[in-house]
Amino acid sequence: MTTVIAVSGKGGTGKTTLSALIIKYLIDNNLKPVLAVDADSNSNLDMALGVEITSTVGSLREGMSRDIQQQKLPAGMSKQDILEMQVEQALVESGDFDLLSMGRGEGPGCYCAINNMLRVLLDGMQEHYRFVVIDNEAGMEHLSRRTTRSVDHMFIVSDPSRRGLETAKRIDELGGEMELETGRSYLVVSRAKFPVDEKLVAAAEETGLNIAGFIPDDPGIAELDLNGRPIVELDDRSPAMVTVRGMLEEILQGVV
Ligand SMILES: Nc1ncnc2c1ncn2[C@@H]1O[C@H](COP(=O)(O)OP(=O)(O)O)[C@@H](O)[C@H]1O
Ligand SMILES: [Mg+2]
Repeated sequence: MTTVIAVSGKGGTGKTTLSALIIKYLIDNNLKPVLAVDADSNSNLDMALGVEITSTVGSLREGMSRDIQQQKLPAGMSKQDILEMQVEQALVESGDFDLLSMGRGEGPGCYCAINNMLRVLLDGMQEHYRFVVIDNEAGMEHLSRRTTRSVDHMFIVSDPSRRGLETAKRIDELGGEMELETGRSYLVVSRAKFPVDEKLVAAAEETGLNIAGFIPDDPGIAELDLNGRPIVELDDRSPAMVTVRGMLEEILQGVV
């Protein structure tokens, strides 16, 4: 059984950081194999994980669409086979996890047929992993375009501000309207100052979302960032890692 965890939220709230820490937790606890999916076009999950991507699914799709128009597809292979081969090439295999980067969203052309093939392919691929962690763009529409699988746990990340919390709530509501099959969604407030201000706790409660936790503003994360080091190198005892571990232990009870 594959458990799918997605991380959503406005840009700059800490989605990629949380995704990387979740992946670190899964690896440290031997909950492997893990597929990391970078589904944010502005993202750099590869850097956070300390690996480098060579190509994205988006660039493959564009190349394929061009080849179809110019009738340059290799003979004797179905489009599905070609895509499958290319996706395999785009997959970065690290010892502990695999990473697939989705790249830019669709351009002006219509890639419907290719998108449908991709969706089938990615859905099938996920089955080979125990956990799939998706670092997602703010909106839910990307997610629904890219996978038909349900998400078991959706973390919506907010910065520690009232406006941020309102955005998080809207993102959650949007997911509901799109009838995304989400097992459970949770609010995560990132970069919080401790002790957490009561008013912030009250505002978080007002969203009506399940609160997974408040991740402290962690100087260790800032230091890794400044030194160009991957987030997965964060010390196990650092406040953010301790919080994420506690959050996941609670949420994954019964799964692992
Ligand atoms: N808990 C935290 N403590 C300190 N800095 C953080 C924390 N979470 C995120 N950051 C920093 O905030 C910035 C944005 O985080 P990032 O995870 O890239 O956000 P997003 O993926 O939502 O755009 C980065 O510079 C990151 O190092
Ligand atoms: Mg990001």
